Amino acid sequence: MRKKIAAANWKMNLNMSDALQLTHDVMKGFNAVARNCEIILAPSFPYLSYIAGLTKENNSIHVAAQDCSAHSHGAYTGEVSAQQLKSAGATHVILGHSERRTYHHEQSEILYEKIKQALSHNLKIIFCCGETLQQRNSEKHFATVTQQLEETVFKLDPKELSQVIIAYEPVWAIGTGINATAAQAQEMHQCIRKETRNKFGNEADHLPILYGGSCNEKNAAELFAQPDIDGGLIGGASLKTESFLAIADALG
Ligand code: 13P
Repeated sequence: MRKKIAAANWKMNLNMSDALQLTHDVMKGFNAVARNCEIILAPSFPYLSYIAGLTKENNSIHVAAQDCSAHSHGAYTGEVSAQQLKSAGATHVILGHSERRTYHHEQSEILYEKIKQALSHNLKIIFCCGETLQQRNSEKHFATVTQQLEETVFKLDPKELSQVIIAYEPVWAIGTGINATAAQAQEMHQCIRKETRNKFGNEADHLPILYGGSCNEKNAAELFAQPDIDGGLIGGASLKTESFLAIADALG
């Protein structure tokens, strides 16, 4: 059976005390009910080690960084390496988010370097892919997402792939309040799983594929009921304890 995952991408939000309070509240609420899922919290870099310290004893709650450097170490002012993240307590790293692709011009070549760095320091990867509205309107959404994966995670070997979680995040749905319908999301997740099966055979059955993009407590249950949707990567709705826990609850 595949893991069910609710991942919180807090992006560049919350100050230190808010982030610690939210972690505390999420842990308390999550522990109160035996939920059949795993939680991943992705705070900003400066809070990582504090949050990793708080969640350390809880096997169902993990901590992700929102990015890592493509370099191993050295004179790269402002960057944070995979090794540093690991030493600060991160277990996962989000790579390929559309905001990094857009604002930092990250393309497959550099993302592949980042993936390799993360894997060499035993960080699991939440790899984001997704099409723009223009690509969808011109019927290029399947080709776009497939290409994003072919140029990156599909170049890994099966053992490396087992360290990867994919997040399908249509760019037009991120932060817009317009989520992909359950049918649109399922169709893409099914395509991703089919392409994965073509390359990796039965490994595809173990690959968690999350949906992200205006996922909230109202639409989560319908999205998560789809056979190829294994959870969510949540932005805005992950900043409030009740909404995020309701989303985790919708995983069943
Ligand atoms: P929203 O849930 O705010 O649309 O953000 C989704 C996202 O980008 C998660 O990585």
